[in-house]
Amino acid sequence: MVDGRESAAPAAFVTGWPIKHSRSPIIHRHWLKQYGLAGTYDAVAVSEEDFAAFIEALKDGSRGFCGGNVTIPHKETAFRLSDRPDELAQELGAANTLWLQDGRLHATNTDGYGFSANLDGLHPGWDKVDRAVILGAGGASRAVIQAIRDRGVGEIHVVNRTVSRAQELADRFGPKIHAHGLPALAEVMAGAGLFVNTTSLGMDGGESTVIDFSILKTGALVTDIVYVPLETPMLRQAGEQGYPTADGLGMLLHQAVPGFEKWFGCRPVVDGGLRELIIKDIQAV
Ligand code: ATR
Repeated sequence: MVDGRESAAPAAFVTGWPIKHSRSPIIHRHWLKQYGLAGTYDAVAVSEEDFAAFIEALKDGSRGFCGGNVTIPHKETAFRLSDRPDELAQELGAANTLWLQDGRLHATNTDGYGFSANLDGLHPGWDKVDRAVILGAGGASRAVIQAIRDRGVGEIHVVNRTVSRAQELADRFGPKIHAHGLPALAEVMAGAGLFVNTTSLGMDGGESTVIDFSILKTGALVTDIVYVPLETPMLRQAGEQGYPTADGLGMLLHQAVPGFEKWFGCRPVVDGGLRELIIKDIQAV
């Protein structure tokens, strides 16, 4: 529990615009129930024009929240308006997790933690590779690049349809990051030990692209941050070519862990029951 709210049950939020699609309330309410904790976690729709006022009210305590999650389109503004962004949030220029402590609004970004913690559980040793390839250079790729770099992978190749966006990320995240356009994909994939799709290709049954994964190193891990559908066309192709794969749902579940611990004082475990709950929700939509 943060900021001396010993008497009231801690209240946390997720905010975005729109926010109806967010699965974070299912995750956090599941853990509150599982661990028998008093507390609430609610989705709050806040438009871009109202976001600064929302943060003000969070800081002065008038909303009664101890912290919460922030999603699209507020991650960059949340970082800017926070009082104490940590190093991860500062480098990304974006925050997804906020909490009040000692009268200050603290901020971090747990997406990279979610990415790494998921693979640590599924494929220990995933980070012991010389070369990684990341397809895509949008907002979602940043935390993935940061996480892989921070694990010490020597060469990280970011391949994107728009090369200038990949180059921006290479400039931001340092000399281990190399930027390329799509025509270089096969060349940089040769011998790589990790492949991550961060593009929206294949999302919600949308169009994808055919990739020859057989040029990767034997046993290379192929992962996707898209989780609807759970088995994206890219993961299916990689699996058919004999490569181990990891879907994107685990990253979503693991990124929620640090926030829950900050707000409710207990570090939750990501288990099969939680995963099934979210899969059911995906199937219901
Ligand atoms: P997010 O913030 O969720 O990552 P985004 O910023 O729109 O979303 O980025 C989406 C990513 O998917 C980008 O890397 C985008 O490539 P561009 O930077 O060239 O736009 C990539 N992407 C989307 N549709 C694509 C397609 N049909 N072919 C190749 N890449 C695509």
